[in-house]
Amino acid sequence: MKMIAVSNYDEMSRRAAELVVAQVQKKATTLLGLATGGTPVGTYALMAEAQRRGEVTYAQCRSVNLDEYLGLAPENPASYRYFMQDKLFNHIDILPENTHLPNGTNQDAVAECARYDALVDSLAPIDLQILGMGHNGHIAFNEPDDHFVAGTHLVDLGAATIDANQRFFDRREDVPCQAYTMGMGPILQAEQVLLLVSGDEKAEILHQSLTGPITPQVPGSILQLHRNLTVIADAAALSKFSVGSF
Ligand code: PGA
Repeated sequence: MKMIAVSNYDEMSRRAAELVVAQVQKKATTLLGLATGGTPVGTYALMAEAQRRGEVTYAQCRSVNLDEYLGLAPENPASYRYFMQDKLFNHIDILPENTHLPNGTNQDAVAECARYDALVDSLAPIDLQILGMGHNGHIAFNEPDDHFVAGTHLVDLGAATIDANQRFFDRREDVPCQAYTMGMGPILQAEQVLLLVSGDEKAEILHQSLTGPITPQVPGSILQLHRNLTVIADAAALSKFSVGSF
C-alpha cells in the first residue's frame, strides 16, 4: 500500500486528479472505476479543469460506476446517474455511451445484476478505481455483513448509510433503502485502487480498515489484500495513525 498523507480535502482532490490525469495520458482507453458521494467531487472538478487546459482528453475512456439506488431514474437529481452527469460527465469529453452505471429502474434484480456483471466483465479490468469510504467502512454499497460478495448485488442500506446520504434528499424517507452495488470482485481485480478519505469522522474507520482484521464487518478492510492500493487521506482522516506509521 502507498499512503499519500495530505493536509486537507483540496490537496487530496488535487493529488487524486493528478493521478487520474496521468493514468489517462498514459492509456487513452483507460477504464475508470468511478464513485459517487462528497469525497470525489473535488477530484472530478479538477479532472474537468485539466481537460479545459488541454492537458488531457477523456474521449477514448470508458467508465463503470460502483452503484445506483433502486427505483431512481437517471433524471432524478438524487440518482447516481444524475450525480455523475452533473459532477463529471457533462464537463468532460467522455462519450455518453461509454459511461455505465447499474440501472436503478430495473426492478428485476437477478437480471440487472447479471447484466451489470456481464458488462463490467466485458470491459475489465478496471485500470483505475476511485473509492470513497462510508462511515461504517462500506466501499461501494458493500455494507458490513457476515460475508463478502464478489458480484453485483442488491443490498439493503443500513441506517448509518441512509443517515449519511439523507443530505442529498429533501427528506429522510425519500432515501431509497436498497441499491445495486458492484461486489468486491472487480474492485480487487482493478489494476490500481485510489482510496480517498477526508475528515475526522472517517478517522476511526480508516484506521480499522487499514490496520485491523480483514473482515466483512469492515468492508474496506479487504483493500489490505489489493496489490496496488494508493490511499490519499488528509490529516483529519489520519488522526488515529501514530506519527511515522507510513
Ligand atoms: P462520502 O461517501 O464521500 O459522501 O463521504 C463515501 C461513501 O459512502 O462511500
